[in-house]
Amino acid sequence: MSDLQEFSKNTAREVEAVLDKLLPQASAEPKWLHEAMRWSTFAGGKRFRPLLVFAVGALFDVPKTRIERTAAAVEMIHTFSLIHDDLPAMDDDDLRRGQPTCHIKFDEATAILAGDALLALAFKAIADDGALETDIRLQLISELAEATGTPQGMVAGQQLDILSENKEIDAADLERIHLHKTGALIRFSARSAAIAAIASEADLAAVTEFATQLGLLFQITDDLLDATQSTDVLGKTAGKDEERRKSTYVSLYGIERASELAGETKAAAVASLLHFAERADLLRQIAESTLSRTA
Ligand code: IPE
Ligand code: IPE
Ligand code: MG
Ligand code: MG
Ligand code: MG
Repeated sequence: MSDLQEFSKNTAREVEAVLDKLLPQASAEPKWLHEAMRWSTFAGGKRFRPLLVFAVGALFDVPKTRIERTAAAVEMIHTFSLIHDDLPAMDDDDLRRGQPTCHIKFDEATAILAGDALLALAFKAIADDGALETDIRLQLISELAEATGTPQGMVAGQQLDILSENKEIDAADLERIHLHKTGALIRFSARSAAIAAIASEADLAAVTEFATQLGLLFQITDDLLDATQSTDVLGKTAGKDEERRKSTYVSLYGIERASELAGETKAAAVASLLHFAERADLLRQIAESTLSRTA
């Protein structure tokens, strides 16, 4: 197992333990809602955003106790975004993380509510984080709200994504969609650990530039995988983007050029790590593995 695989496995285990404590028990009423929240949260998932929180935390030697709730909060927001993304009114998917999607396993109303509840719980997780100073908590809450909502965040990106179905859009508009729907939360994940570390302005700027490119890369590779991988490997229905006539890097550029652009975006991400020299080795490995990922 590589250093990154080991780090990633440990992060997933630690964040899942925090999530388990923060989510309502399935035995508490309303059980149906709590079961749905737990179903989607613990269905699997790569835990990529918590990995990034912890990897940036390691760069600055931040104690894990200062970042673990934030990592769990980002994963809650991400899971909320996936539950709503899969709804019939949006991408209409019935498979996620290798399991039936929330609205298939439960029902549509419950899937909407489970997403809503995860969104609210994420902010509570940070607001109640006794390991962080009040001003840091406030900054994290403000930045997470910005990364989640509109006009700078994931919700804005999701709206643009839906409006761009069945349309030909240009490169700048496509990049904007990806930077918002996927990039914003990834960027927050990296920044959050630097903020908890009380990093210098220059360090925070380098982390931000790295994560902006990494977020774009993550969605370009998501587009490529949708077109090139099997449903079994992905744990979500392959080929959905073409079926829904989505605007993606594959629909705009084709697989070959999209792969080249992924490589260039990875190179830009890695270039921003020069600021940290060899201290950023783990982040460099994350960029490499995001480019070469198969799921
Ligand atoms: C899928 O995210 C949706 C995107 C933003 C691309 P992930 O690929 O991180 O999904 P999980 O969490 O591993 O299931
Ligand atoms: C997802 O983009 C972005 C989100 C904010 C959830 P996709 O719609 O491409 O994600 P998948 O492919 O369904 O995971
Ligand atoms: Mg979508
Ligand atoms: Mg989708
Ligand atoms: Mg996709």
